[in-house]
Amino acid sequence: MLHIQICQSNEQSGWLPLRHALWPDASQQEHQDEIDELLRQPQRYINFVAYDGQEQPIGLAEASLRSDYVNGTDVSPVVFLEGIYVVPQHRRQGVAAQLIEQVAQWGREHGCAQMASDTDLANLPSQQTHKALGFEETERVVFFKRQL
Ligand SMILES: CC(C)(COP(=O)(O)OP(=O)(O)OC[C@H]1O[C@@H](n2cnc3c(N)ncnc32)[C@H](O)[C@@H]1OP(=O)(O)O)[C@@H](O)C(=O)NCCC(=O)NCCS
Repeated sequence: MLHIQICQSNEQSGWLPLRHALWPDASQQEHQDEIDELLRQPQRYINFVAYDGQEQPIGLAEASLRSDYVNGTDVSPVVFLEGIYVVPQHRRQGVAAQLIEQVAQWGREHGCAQMASDTDLANLPSQQTHKALGFEETERVVFFKRQL
């Protein structure tokens, strides 16, 4: 039976490996440091891990409250889905749907009337998941940087 828990500690089973699977470019230490930072601001960040019936971690959702302008939204604050990941062998079983519902509930409890998210232009499965779970597409953007 799937169950979902709020991540309360750095040692929380599965958080770091799931994070690393989602964002493999960051080192273990960088993930560790970011987790510490997220845990220091529980009023701003919420992180959920989903476990299967054998207590194996199978999915992660990280989210934040954003009060700065978020593309495509027209209220403030919004709850922003920073990352969502489900291990391949547990996909298409509604795990992301349940994680995102937990994020939505946390957002409502924190005064948010909208939830926002983004994903890579090439990540069609993620785009389809968002649309299937009630998100509407708002904008397509290209980011730039210039060295100073
Ligand atoms: C995107 C992701 C989180 C979806 O997780 P999931 O648990 O499989 O999603 P769900 O089972 O809750 O799917 C809900 C609905 O979304 C849609 N959907 C999910 N995966 C899909 C896919 N690969 N192709 C098309 N539609 C998809 C379906 O409509 C699905 O409902 P259905 O299975 O009844 O048809 C998962 O594929 C993943 O971890 N991908 C790699 C990480 C990633 O890209 N994250 C998003 C960017 S941060």
